[in-house]
Amino acid sequence: MTTVRPRRSVLYMPASNARALEKAKTLPTDGLVLDLEDAVAPEAKAAAREALVAAIKAGGYGKREVVARINALDTPWGADDLKALAAAGPDGILVPKVSSAAEVEKVDAALASAPAKTRLWVMMETPLGILDAKAIAATARKPGSRLSVFVMGTNDLVKETRAELDANRTQALYWLSVAVTAARAYGLDVLDGVYNNFRDADGFKAECLQGRRLGMDGKTLIHPDQIATANEVFQPSDAETAAARKIIAAFELPENQGKGVITLDGRMVELLHAEMAKRTVALADAITAMKG
Ligand code: COA
Ligand code: MG
Repeated sequence: MTTVRPRRSVLYMPASNARALEKAKTLPTDGLVLDLEDAVAPEAKAAAREALVAAIKAGGYGKREVVARINALDTPWGADDLKALAAAGPDGILVPKVSSAAEVEKVDAALASAPAKTRLWVMMETPLGILDAKAIAATARKPGSRLSVFVMGTNDLVKETRAELDANRTQALYWLSVAVTAARAYGLDVLDGVYNNFRDADGFKAECLQGRRLGMDGKTLIHPDQIATANEVFQPSDAETAAARKIIAAFELPENQGKGVITLDGRMVELLHAEMAKRTVALADAITAMKG
């Protein structure tokens, strides 16, 4: 089993907000996206880039995964952002508005001399990006590719498609499911879009649950108040972890060696369930290790 990286909660914050960058060091989030794009005004872009590079170099974020979101490559800032971040070497570089496999390959190539740990994350937030999700995800198979995570940009998809989302996000299900399916086909993680109404705790929790049921690995967040709920929803519960350990143990019994299907507590359990159980346990263990 390859190592599992917990990405239950990934909080955006403007890289121009010094207070937020400092506060992030104490928040119980699995990851941070330090943003140079939409959360930063054009006049503040250059200063934010400097602050971001300095924050990455200074560190202090513990086990939190630190990801820098650059400006799109067709903007006046994108190329400089990419160059500065490739040298600074955060855990990840998030590229917005990706619409084709060629764009991903171009960024991957530009990261050739970045530190090995720096992964490539891409925003799935344009109509072309959704329509080309398979080709975009498939670039992860190319030798040396750093592509690791899809991040849903639901606000941009709403803007571009003119969809109007109801409380159940019925109109977004196609985008979300296409992205999850493409991500899984090529071994990527996929994070759900943000919930704008950050004072609505019940609505947020319901949307986290929906994301988990769709197969999302976690949720992108805009406010610290959203962290605890995302962590809880996207982690295996104690009961789920215990059930998973039981399935693994059952297949390890001498009498079950070589079997593809067994009965456990009156239910059919197949080897595929043992594979799922191993992932559940690996994720639970990785979450425990985050706390240590
Ligand atoms: N990251 C880190 N800290 C944050 C934060 C974030 N995203 N959002 C709020 N905080 C901090 C505030 O600085 C404040 O800290 P303090 O008590 O130490 O001063 C505390 O949490 C409470 O903040 P609150 O007053 O409830 O919110 P706000 O009005 O200051 O900010 C937003 C509201 C939406 C502007 C802010 O949450 C934000 O900028 N979110 C991220 C937006 C973003 O990055 N968007 C791009 C991707 S969609
Ligand atoms: Mg966007």
